[in-house]
Amino acid sequence: MSATSSLKEDHVIVRRISSIARRYAEIIYSSNSVPVDDVKKVLILIEMFIDAYHHCKEECSYFPAVDGSMLEDEARALMVEHELGRRIARMLNSNLDLWLRDARSSEPVARMLKAYAEYLDLHMEREERFFSSYDAFVDEHEQDRVMDAFNAIRRERMGDARLRTILSMLDELEGSLEVK
Ligand SMILES: [Fe+2]
Ligand SMILES: [Fe+2]
Repeated sequence: MSATSSLKEDHVIVRRISSIARRYAEIIYSSNSVPVDDVKKVLILIEMFIDAYHHCKEECSYFPAVDGSMLEDEARALMVEHELGRRIARMLNSNLDLWLRDARSSEPVARMLKAYAEYLDLHMEREERFFSSYDAFVDEHEQDRVMDAFNAIRRERMGDARLRTILSMLDELEGSLEVK
């Protein structure tokens, strides 16, 4: 498998997280109540899968492979977008804490969930255009080297048990959204 295909596979999971976040935003907007445990699970998925794992693969090894080339600026712009994602996730977290303290307004939680989903969708769209340029530019040997780094990150950060936990959390959240 090429490094790019591995990231595209991750994006299938990231898209599921995005749809879940968007649906919860709608539910919170219309009910003015926050299903706290579910939103906490969304935050765990963001932290465990997107931030600690997927963004790390991109930042630690995929993007640096184009340093010094004409693709470097776009790789850097995509990394700046990751920072935006982290900021929204932190705001989601603190707005959830505020809601837990006084349950006054659920709107900020919904707004941050929606903003995070929008960030993910736009970011992945831009990134997938970058993937095509990357594949045309980075040769097979270099992609193999990036893939070796991905495998090391996976061993360190995404053991089989952790991945199973993530997939079952996704199934659970999608299941509970179906009945809402
Ligand atoms: Fe990314
Ligand atoms: Fe990505």
